Amino acid sequence: MSEKAVLVTGGAGYIGSHTVIELLNSNQSVVVIDNLTNSSYEAIRRIEKITEKKVIFYKVDILDKKALLEVFQRHEIWAVIHFAGLKAVGESTRIPLDYYHNNITGTVLLLEAMKESQVKNIVFSSSATVYGDPAVIPIPETLPTGATNPYGRTKQFIEHIIRDLCTAEENWNAALLRYFNPAGAHPSGTLGENPLGIPNNLMPFLSQVAIGKREYLSVFGHDYETPDGTCIRDYINVVDLAKGHLAALNKMKDGPGCVEYNLGTGRGNTVLEMIHAFNKAVGRELPYKLVDRRPGDVRNLTANPAKANAELHWKAEISLDETCASLWNWQSKNPNGLEDCPGEAPAES
Ligand code: NAD
Ligand code: WQD
Repeated sequence: MSEKAVLVTGGAGYIGSHTVIELLNSNQSVVVIDNLTNSSYEAIRRIEKITEKKVIFYKVDILDKKALLEVFQRHEIWAVIHFAGLKAVGESTRIPLDYYHNNITGTVLLLEAMKESQVKNIVFSSSATVYGDPAVIPIPETLPTGATNPYGRTKQFIEHIIRDLCTAEENWNAALLRYFNPAGAHPSGTLGENPLGIPNNLMPFLSQVAIGKREYLSVFGHDYETPDGTCIRDYINVVDLAKGHLAALNKMKDGPGCVEYNLGTGRGNTVLEMIHAFNKAVGRELPYKLVDRRPGDVRNLTANPAKANAELHWKAEISLDETCASLWNWQSKNPNGLEDCPGEAPAES
């Protein structure tokens, strides 16, 4: 390969796969690694179908530094987009050490491999969860962080680790992207979120109610201080989110050092508003029950995306109705996600 490539860790996952599509569509060279613990090699095949391009893929765990170094030796990499990680909040409270090991140790090993390979540009998947229960809505990046669960703390600690590295050593650039609530699927209807087991998140659960896999949605809490009593979140379309990564990569070329960006729409919606929006896409009323609050939930997480809008020249553009329609298109065409698809991942492709 002549042109320098972007290494995407976790590129077979939900947000990673959509980002790989956008990278390939903008003619960038891409190398993908994933250990496939929460994804399927079929996602890579579908990326190839959508983009009509071959994906360079290695089934590699970020905890395997030797394998990481081999990938850096084989390809000329100029930047890393780092998605690989475990992401279930509830699970992280039950097996915190697994989360700290996979997410934090994995990232340290990745950073070491980058350093040893003289690759000093990283875009990191952080999360709005680092804000804990924020004092200001919409949330600016300047608010203090204070994650309230082990998963969130892995994101917060990794942000600190990357910031410390950028301070200590010259020529590192990092974009710490704090995603709000990613939703929706690829407009082709062939790629989307692929939760294993019972979904923890609102939109995947709701879409499984729509296909009859779940009887009804439990709405967690209806006594919050919001217009209808249910929690407010900032749901950002996954394709808009993917494009935010390309904008962050572009920014690397200015040598910005370490910068945090909120990737959200700036628009907050309650759980009941999301149900109504999804009902419109599905064409019928989906059943739900109002139940007690879910421990750990906060009232409102809505982004102030002004910094990303101004500095990255990026803005979320896709409407909530389109997001719901794309989710329904994906879910109705792929009721079991990618689970039914045959074929093992080759060790390398
Ligand atoms: P995902 O689980 O679909 O994708 C993560 C990918 O990383 C998976 O394909 C998984 O197999 C892989 N992976 C996990 N551990 C690995 C390891 N040790 N080595 C190699 N690969 C490994 O999740 P996603 O929703 O696409 O999230 C991507 C990133 O964005 C994660 O870091 C997540 O924490 C973060 N994030 C997600 C959300 C969200 O709601 N989806 C919100 C904020 C931040
Ligand atoms: C959204 C709203 C629930 C399910 C989580 C992580 C965050 C980030 C995104 C990774 C809340 C309500 C949900 C259900 C419900 N992930 N809800 N019934 O909690 O905002 O964020 O995912 O980084 O870190 O914490 O997303 O989709 O779980 O919940 O009523 O069955 O929907 O209470 O108000 P959340 P979510």
